[in-house]
Amino acid sequence: MKRAEIAVTVTDWVQAEALVLPVRTEVFVLEQGVPMEIERDELDPVCRHAIARAPGCGAIGTGRLLPDGHIGRMAVLRTARGAGVGGVVLQALIGEAVRLGMSELALSAQIHALGFYLRHGFEPCGEVFIEAGIAHRAMRRTLGGVR
Ligand SMILES: CC(C)(COP(=O)(O)OP(=O)(O)OC[C@H]1O[C@@H](n2cnc3c(N)ncnc32)[C@H](O)[C@@H]1OP(=O)(O)O)[C@@H](O)C(=O)NCCC(=O)NCCS
Repeated sequence: MKRAEIAVTVTDWVQAEALVLPVRTEVFVLEQGVPMEIERDELDPVCRHAIARAPGCGAIGTGRLLPDGHIGRMAVLRTARGAGVGGVVLQALIGEAVRLGMSELALSAQIHALGFYLRHGFEPCGEVFIEAGIAHRAMRRTLGGVR
């Protein structure tokens, strides 16, 4: 799969739910062992959702943007990783934040993904903490001048 072949859309929960839940269930619940009741929360309906697709495939990657500027639920199917899908999803969410007039983004990065977010302009802040049994670190990125 080439990066140029990845199509990404950003949409609301009504449009996104059926496409992104299978990806999140596969990655967070089945692969990482996050309990379903933690993976599912009440915030999805107020978020914007990015959906990445490859030619001939359903959704292969997703992520969400909360109204307060937090990015979360970044997930790419294991078989599709390392090909730029996560980067395309993250850039789509950054673009959506700019479009909405946000000035700063925040996220809780799983420690193994720190390098991924660093390469997209996020900086770590604060100490490592445990959430859903997984080590995380807060990261921030300002959006001044991003187009
Ligand atoms: C974090 C995650 C979303 C990144 O998605 P991705 O599609 O692999 O991301 P990309 O391909 O854009 O970038 C991954 C980087 O690792 C490199 N990489 C190489 N092989 C890789 C592999 N097998 N798996 C993951 N990354 C790999 C890529 O080259 C890339 O480096 P770059 O940023 O310098 O280009 C994905 O690994 C994932 O879903 N992980 C499980 C869930 C998770 O941890 N979510 C994050 C919660 S904070």
